[in-house]
Amino acid sequence: MKTVRFGIIGLGLMGREIASAAARWCHLEDLDFRPEITAVCSRSLPPGRVDWFKRNFPKIDQVTKDYRELIASPNVDAVYCAVPHHLHAELYSAIIRSGKHLLGEKPFGIDLAANAAILAAIRERHDVMVRCSSEFPFFPGVQRLFQLVESGAFGRLIEVNTGFLHSSDLDPNKPINWKRQVRQNGAYGVMGDLGVHVCHFPFRAGWTPLNVRAVLSNIIEQRPDGGGNLVPCETWDNATLLCETADKQGKRFPWTLKTQRIAPGQKNTWYVEIYGTNASARFSTKNPKRLELLNYTGGEQAWREIDLGYTGAFKTVTGEIFEFGFSDSILQMVAAFLHEVAHGRPLLPAAGCVTPEETALSHRLFTAALRSQAAATTEAV
Ligand SMILES: NC(=O)c1ccc[n+]([C@@H]2O[C@H](COP(=O)([O-])OP(=O)(O)OC[C@H]3O[C@@H](n4cnc5c(N)ncnc54)[C@H](O)[C@@H]3O)[C@@H](O)[C@H]2O)c1
Repeated sequence: MKTVRFGIIGLGLMGREIASAAARWCHLEDLDFRPEITAVCSRSLPPGRVDWFKRNFPKIDQVTKDYRELIASPNVDAVYCAVPHHLHAELYSAIIRSGKHLLGEKPFGIDLAANAAILAAIRERHDVMVRCSSEFPFFPGVQRLFQLVESGAFGRLIEVNTGFLHSSDLDPNKPINWKRQVRQNGAYGVMGDLGVHVCHFPFRAGWTPLNVRAVLSNIIEQRPDGGGNLVPCETWDNATLLCETADKQGKRFPWTLKTQRIAPGQKNTWYVEIYGTNASARFSTKNPKRLELLNYTGGEQAWREIDLGYTGAFKTVTGEIFEFGFSDSILQMVAAFLHEVAHGRPLLPAAGCVTPEETALSHRLFTAALRSQAAATTEAV
């Protein structure tokens, strides 16, 4: 059993989510690796938050406000880093150069130049595993879709739609935070926040966007600052991208990506729809057990609903008769990252975390989308 000692930088929403996955490692079966949280770092260290980590992870021997101290620790092999986007280039590059493996959060750099700086650091260190976090493809329904793509079941692709829809910003009185400010979140706005999630599956399926027409919306232009004032809320709330896309054989099809923070009726809804000449499929986390399939062999067209069980890529103690959820997808993603650290390759092509090259392609797409919005033109990716 190989133990990978983890340091966590950024103890916010996602830092605790990943730590909690490490805490229930006994849920996974037949693995020859395990994580151990040994160090935590955050710009602010609220006592309650530090206490939560220390109470639940007794092997933590370092609590620091300075990430440089954490990456200098000989007691850390790998780092999970979840900090605001303007810090990605500096922290990720330093982590990689320190020789620690990195599971970094999206968008992997606040913009194209920051992403390129991170990829330059990776080229200097071939001995570290660097991956980007994206959990939704680990839902059993999406793993099944990967198998169908690989088997060629869809025939010629007619159209693909992917999306990630939230209503978290529907309330205009919600105070502004760093995710609504260009300086910290980036000019991509919602695309930087949610975009990698909707690219992961299509990129891994081998589908490459060639050009894009984007329509971006800033729906709520001011928000309270928490001190009684209204301040500009300058980031794009919603983005719809239409891409001419090539499959592995170079055949072209339209791919629509939607990322929305203001989508009434939606709460963390991630979906994929694939329409092909031989088969079509639809999956959404809104109904995480349901996979819809339509096989067309002539005659009547009929959708059928498959009620999926708990069948992730990595085997667990949960029986297949039960349901799969968000924190299960995080657990599977951490297992996928550590599998790549321990074995140098994913368990299955479909069970791999987003690669740095895939993040670079997403940055080219989102940068082209910004140009498209500014000029109301179709832009090459
Ligand atoms: N994979 C997902 O589903 C998912 C969901 C939400 C957010 N994210 C990503 O996670 C990252 C963080 O988002 P979050 O929602 O956890 O944010 P958050 O605001 O909840 O937490 C950010 C943390 O970073 C810390 N921090 C800020 N500056 C720092 C510094 N210089 N050194 C060390 N720590 C510092 C803060 O103290 C805080 O603990 C972002 O890249 C975001 O896009 C991913």
